[in-house]
Amino acid sequence: LEAARACALETLRSNDGGGFTRPSARLYGHQWLWDSCFVAIGLRHVDVERAAAEVVSLFTGQWPNGMLPHIRFCPAAGEPYHADPRLWGVRKAVEAPPAVETSGVTQPPLVAEAVARVGEVMPARRRLAFYRQVLPGLIAYHEWLYRERDPGGSGLVAVVHPWESGMDDTPPWSAAVRHLIPARVRAVRDSGAVDVLDGLRRDNRTVPARERIAADELFTLYELTRRLRAAHYRFAEIEAAGLPAIRDVGFNAVLVRANHQLEMVAADAGQTLPPGLRRAMRTTQDAFANLLADGFPRHQDARTGRPLPDETVAGFLALYAGAVPPEQVGHLAGQLFGPRWTGRYGPASVPFDAPAFDPCRYWRGPVWPMVNWLLADGLARSGRAVEARRLREDTVELVTRSSRPYEYYSPVDGAGHGAPDFAPTAAVVLDMLR
Ligand code: DGY
Repeated sequence: LEAARACALETLRSNDGGGFTRPSARLYGHQWLWDSCFVAIGLRHVDVERAAAEVVSLFTGQWPNGMLPHIRFCPAAGEPYHADPRLWGVRKAVEAPPAVETSGVTQPPLVAEAVARVGEVMPARRRLAFYRQVLPGLIAYHEWLYRERDPGGSGLVAVVHPWESGMDDTPPWSAAVRHLIPARVRAVRDSGAVDVLDGLRRDNRTVPARERIAADELFTLYELTRRLRAAHYRFAEIEAAGLPAIRDVGFNAVLVRANHQLEMVAADAGQTLPPGLRRAMRTTQDAFANLLADGFPRHQDARTGRPLPDETVAGFLALYAGAVPPEQVGHLAGQLFGPRWTGRYGPASVPFDAPAFDPCRYWRGPVWPMVNWLLADGLARSGRAVEARRLREDTVELVTRSSRPYEYYSPVDGAGHGAPDFAPTAAVVLDMLR
């Protein structure tokens, strides 16, 4: 375990970009939103001030309307990144863009969780100062989520890009964006020349294409990004353009927990949250409970309210939301650790029997240590301490089987895939070892 700790620390150190951490220096050389939150949660045990800086750095990319972008670009990043500021065109699309370059979409709102976890290990006076420093930005972000992404007040916020879900090629999202494939990409794919498409991408220089999102899907996401840019990243225009809007179950589960943590942080800092925000937060609690009433929690189409058919590991994040009624927790945990989701390693990101299952490809099967952190945390708070401990131990063991922390792991043979030296994996290991 000492070796696991040393390796995790070295990974975080080698990805340090100066006040923020790159998820993986070669593939992801900038600052990502939820990745940095996991990094802060791990780093707090080692250097609480550096962990606080990680979170504060995220707010330097905050948009004037409150949005926290999923990428804050850093001029000094080494390898060129495939979805760079030119693709996003934020400066042209948005009034008063932030001083730094950013992407135009957000990511699961884990920031309040990171703030609370970092604050938890600070001395009381320092904690108060830290909370007061970040609260205005945090409140503005949650207000943006409701104002912009749930204008109808359903309680569940809509997500407009799979990169916002954090689970890029997860089956329900792949299905939702499929019709946006550019005609030329479709023609090349249908002629069987996938290698031609792979030859045009930049993200497969460090990670083999077969472990990443498929090329036709990646080019479809670039197209979606261009259309979001044309809609100025404004939800009303995005809806009017008929682009996908999904009440993503994972994103909303993270929001439920973040709302709780935000309330706690504000109370600790002696501040009251704006009444409109408090009302919206209560609606989310109820709406999320309704999602569970229909059985396994699934994404919903934001236009029709209809559930999307595919089951994914995001459904189990209801445990992390703390929204599962006590009498249902055992059933959900039973499914999570049952043979459809957990084999030798687990849980898989889609069930083993799903047609889309692929043990090495991104969100189509692999086990993600970041997700396991959320699940273990949820299980522990749902009265399942034994399963939570076992999941943490199994995750540490899975990661330490490889010589370095990877982005994700095969649920079949435990091999590491995706970006090597992946900081969020290292960080959750550090937290699990504490
Ligand atoms: C990527 O570059 O594939 C990322 O997942 C986008 O956030």
